[in-house]
Amino acid sequence: FQPSSGNIINAELEKHVRLLHQAVGNAKADDKYIVFGTGVTQLLNGLVIALSPNDIDVQPAKVVAAVPYYPVFRKQTKFFRFTGYEWKGNASDYVNTASPQNIIELVTSPNNPEGRFHHSIINGSLAIHDHVYYWPHYTPIAQPADEDIMLFSMSKFTGHSGSRFGWALIKDVKVYDKVMEYMTENTEGTSHDTQLRTLKLIKEILLQMKTKRETTADINQFGYQTLSKRWAELTKLVASSDRFSLQNLSPQYCNYFGKVRDPSPSFGWLKCEWEQDTDCEALLRSAQIKTQSGVLFEADSRYTRLSLIKTDDDFDQMMEKLKPLVHAQRSI
Ligand SMILES: Cc1ncc(COP(=O)(O)O)c(C=O)c1O
Repeated sequence: FQPSSGNIINAELEKHVRLLHQAVGNAKADDKYIVFGTGVTQLLNGLVIALSPNDIDVQPAKVVAAVPYYPVFRKQTKFFRFTGYEWKGNASDYVNTASPQNIIELVTSPNNPEGRFHHSIINGSLAIHDHVYYWPHYTPIAQPADEDIMLFSMSKFTGHSGSRFGWALIKDVKVYDKVMEYMTENTEGTSHDTQLRTLKLIKEILLQMKTKRETTADINQFGYQTLSKRWAELTKLVASSDRFSLQNLSPQYCNYFGKVRDPSPSFGWLKCEWEQDTDCEALLRSAQIKTQSGVLFEADSRYTRLSLIKTDDDFDQMMEKLKPLVHAQRSI
């Protein structure tokens, strides 16, 4: 396997990205090409263009995602409005389509917002698997992901979202060539400063994983311990009244830790259960808690997304502000 990377992909970093997937066991990278991007955000656009027919005589590709989906999928696809594709919304509306080869399906697994594993639901569609949350911090690692197009990001692995670094693992050389062409035309590749920084981070992470695996010096262990503790606190609070509910996640076996582990999602997908609380985002805003309304995810306004990936201080403040809402007396 010889990656034809040109000079916009640093070979040493590419090698270490492969080593990282091997060490974590979350993706099969050895038979895939790798493209770097200015975050997964840029790669998403590059991939949608690469998979689109780009021919005015051919019907544009339909870009879809199953509800609830990451709102950027819709916003970005609509914003760029390239002639080769169009945003068509909920993937569930196309499950029985006669022409799945004309559909680009964006699949996020584990999903943002609710942290469950998702699969492509349109048989024969061109699927892009966004695996930015498929790390031991957030979810059990069941097996190495092995789809034809997969996306990962430092934003969610180490939290370096400001460095803007993501990568795509791509099976098909034709798709790879098109995405590389897009990267060259669009930004002449990814910042070399960022590539160097990412290389240093991954090298250090691999070292800690090897030498201090059972401790929180291993970022996977640290991420898991921090988030599972937060999830336990949040679910306990929410369960203490009937005002709200959260997504149901259960402990599962994780290959990385070699044991059954508790859930540790990045987000709480909170539902307002009381009849009068029809706008959950507005209710939380009134208590000074900033969330993302379910409406953005094409879901109901009774849902809102609480972020659990913040500083300890932010999380503690959020819990304090949530308590009075949970324990309030029902007026009707
Ligand atoms: C599902 C999903 N994909 C992609 C991204 C963005 O990744 P990046 O920062 O690498 O552009 C996010 C960030 O919230 C996300 O939730």
